[in-house]
Amino acid sequence: MSHASTPSPLSAKSCGPLRGRVRPPGDKSISHRAFLLGLLSAGETRVSGLLEGEDVLNTARACAQLGAKVERVGEGRWTIRGVGVGALLEPADTLDFGNAGTGSRLMMGVVGGHGITARFDGDASLRKRPMRRILDPLVLMGAEVLEQAEGGRCPILLKGTPDPAPIEYRTPVASAQIKSAVLLAGLNARGRTTVIESEASRDHTEKMLAYFGAVVSSEPFGDHGRKIMLEGRPELSPRPISVPVDPSSAAFLIAAALLVEGSDVVVEGVMMNPLRIGLVTTLLEMGANIEIVDTREEGGEQVADLRVRHSALKGVDVPADRAPAMIDEYIILAVVAAFATGVTRMNGLQELRVKESDRLAATAAGLLANGVRATIEGDDLIVEGGAGACPGGGLVETHLDHRLAMSFLVMGLASQKPVTVDDETMIATSFPTFRPLMAQLGVDFS
Ligand code: S3P
Repeated sequence: MSHASTPSPLSAKSCGPLRGRVRPPGDKSISHRAFLLGLLSAGETRVSGLLEGEDVLNTARACAQLGAKVERVGEGRWTIRGVGVGALLEPADTLDFGNAGTGSRLMMGVVGGHGITARFDGDASLRKRPMRRILDPLVLMGAEVLEQAEGGRCPILLKGTPDPAPIEYRTPVASAQIKSAVLLAGLNARGRTTVIESEASRDHTEKMLAYFGAVVSSEPFGDHGRKIMLEGRPELSPRPISVPVDPSSAAFLIAAALLVEGSDVVVEGVMMNPLRIGLVTTLLEMGANIEIVDTREEGGEQVADLRVRHSALKGVDVPADRAPAMIDEYIILAVVAAFATGVTRMNGLQELRVKESDRLAATAAGLLANGVRATIEGDDLIVEGGAGACPGGGLVETHLDHRLAMSFLVMGLASQKPVTVDDETMIATSFPTFRPLMAQLGVDFS
């Protein structure tokens, strides 16, 4: 299902200090996986702290189309009565994932490893995103692509196989979505499925599979990579899932507190999985005043409260091998870099070109529209900071990309002139409470 179809512009202007404590919503990656593993285990999975964003709700609906009984039992609390590996129903209608790359790609893995056929589709942004990277390994496992739009894009009609071949697959790019699709298809294989990635990507799928009782192990591969091995045909048992706070959503609140003079904010319960917190590492290198307090465990992940105060920042060089741990945070980092002293160079951003939008081009365009000097050199983005000041005054094109909208709204809170984004409706895909939480800290968008 797609978001509201009429674009709704929104502006942000400079504001007084942000103050208070705030808890961002549950992690999007884990929320998608909670529904999928709930579907694949026979019995009732209870989830709390779920992100109730459009992307995740589309995955919930798709799971229901494949036979799960999905019910909302309270705020962020859901139950999923699954059917188990090997017992999925063939969906009668198209699985419409709206804007959700993760939901659609992981579900392609699930369908690819079962003897059912399903049509996958979504909004204009999803229809532009490359799906060959997911379909290629699924075809190796025995699935068939019956229909596809040009270049292996949605709408796609995928015929899964009831007896997927266990394969050893080396992912062509560091992508948790590719890794997860192969593992999810491998659940129904007789034998061991192995995925090798040369740069480690987020590990939520393998962690949750192990938690549900699958035999899955991983070991280092090369300098930065991992090899993940899954034994097929496990009996997955439903387990309660408590979803920790999404560090990719927390990023906008952290950035706003760093940029707006006088701010002092505590962002509560942020998931500190090392494969997700490249942004925090980078901000600390830039001189950010971020105190990591009360580190504890929630839902099988380390979480912490982050006390963030307005900071004078300096430009840094962000190494390419950090990209998988902060792949969704480059837009907001580029906005932060616009206020730093000196140049920030973000290396190796080729994957940004195939996100909800071409984030490399769109980020540079948004910066230029707001008087910030930004250049793209090959796959690198270079931002010249304004030593605490950023002109603003621009209109930013968001190309159906929630993170572009939130990032440039944050810019407007500290820039000299207001910043306007052409559409804020997409924010609901990942962070439906963005505006109320910002209001809780004293920010009012108009
Ligand atoms: C995600 C993986 C990342 C990320 C996306 C969520 C996931 O994509 O950009 O927002 O939940 O697996 P890639 O794995 O394709 O880099």
